Amino acid sequence: MQGTFTYSNPTRLHFGPDSLNALSSELQQYGPTVLLSYGKQSIKRSGLYDKIITILQAAGKTIVEDPGVMPNPTVEKLAEGARLARENKVDLILAVGGGSVCDYAKGVSVAAYCTDDPWEKYYVRMEPVDNAIIPVGCVLTMAGTGSEMNGGSVITNHAAKRKIGRVFGDAVYPRFSILNPELTLTLPRYQMVAGCFDIMSHILEQYLSGTDDNTSDYLAEGLMRSLIHSSRIAARNPQDYEARSNIMWTATWALNTLIAKGKSTDWMVHMMGQSVGAFTDATHGMTLAAVTLPYFRHILPYGLPKFKRFATHVWGISPEGKTDEQTALEGLDALKAWMQEIGLVLSLRELGATPEMLDGIAEGTFLLRGGYKNNLTTAEVRQILEASM
Ligand code: NZQ
Ligand code: ZN
Repeated sequence: MQGTFTYSNPTRLHFGPDSLNALSSELQQYGPTVLLSYGKQSIKRSGLYDKIITILQAAGKTIVEDPGVMPNPTVEKLAEGARLARENKVDLILAVGGGSVCDYAKGVSVAAYCTDDPWEKYYVRMEPVDNAIIPVGCVLTMAGTGSEMNGGSVITNHAAKRKIGRVFGDAVYPRFSILNPELTLTLPRYQMVAGCFDIMSHILEQYLSGTDDNTSDYLAEGLMRSLIHSSRIAARNPQDYEARSNIMWTATWALNTLIAKGKSTDWMVHMMGQSVGAFTDATHGMTLAAVTLPYFRHILPYGLPKFKRFATHVWGISPEGKTDEQTALEGLDALKAWMQEIGLVLSLRELGATPEMLDGIAEGTFLLRGGYKNNLTTAEVRQILEASM
């Protein structure tokens, strides 16, 4: 372990088939008015909406309806939610849905009482939050982002062609999250596997960085092995509760700060994927899947020992009689085979990206430091995007 750090996570989790029972007691801790934020249709179709309304009414809450949160929530929707929350003086934002609804709820939480333009202040300039914050609670219906137990909030500004993720501090984390794997069983296959790749990508962004011996990397390897195993079962039989519950729990631990502790991280796959999202509005996990292999091939020479370790510790590839590079490349082949097996998109074209968009996507990609090719340039990002087409 390197460096000095503090670990804390304020989100209380309720996990399992009966976990919605915990909502009533959680609600008791807040005032009377609840902003009920949700997506387009899935929670009404599944019957979850009716259950939530019944619980809110039994708790004597005034419900302010906030439907229509879209995948990749927009800055316009954020402004609408902030106005609703402020005008109704809501005491709690209850996000019911996937990562988009949870991310949006955190955005509304900080934007409601912001006297400046919240997009500019909190997402572009990344200033500390200095206004009142409305507490957030989540009932999660899709596994992937980890938004249920982190401070992340990703908002898209289509006019500016920017999709920006902000990580807020403890005060903005959900106060509680309800994780019932049964609620994920109605997800379309495309969303389920996109979520699986989002989880894999979160782990890899934190694993493929640094050269020190670090407990976090062993945790990451365990999470990846569980995910690979369970995602294969879920891809064959999406209704397998055990597999879906393991995927949900892995998603939470993949991105709640634990496995980044004491080590450096990369996050360039996400930076590229988010810029692709700003131009195409494609499903987040699929944008990551399309750029991952070209990016890894590009940085492999700079991080060879870790890529070799990824091959041997995660995929069980024997290094005997092979060069380190051969072993590392076999690891990437195994990753690709798994991606194909579960049904991921492997090219940007399939997501609606066109060659004319690539310059803009490259320019919209934030260059972070910490990966094995530490001084990556916009020109290299352009090459990686080209190879991802
Ligand atoms: O709108 P509805 O009708 O609810 O449909 C949603 C949506 O169309 C549907 N869905 C969700 N749960 C369902 C369901 N359909 C049937 N049954 C269910 N149980 O799935 C679609 C996608 O939902 P969404 O919330 O957009 O997916 P996800 O959880 O992948 O969230 C993606 C967003 O999270 C951001 C992404 O950038 C993207 O904007 N991220 C947030 C992060 C964080 N907070 O730390 C990190 C991630 O890297 C990610 O960037
Ligand atoms: Zn992600």
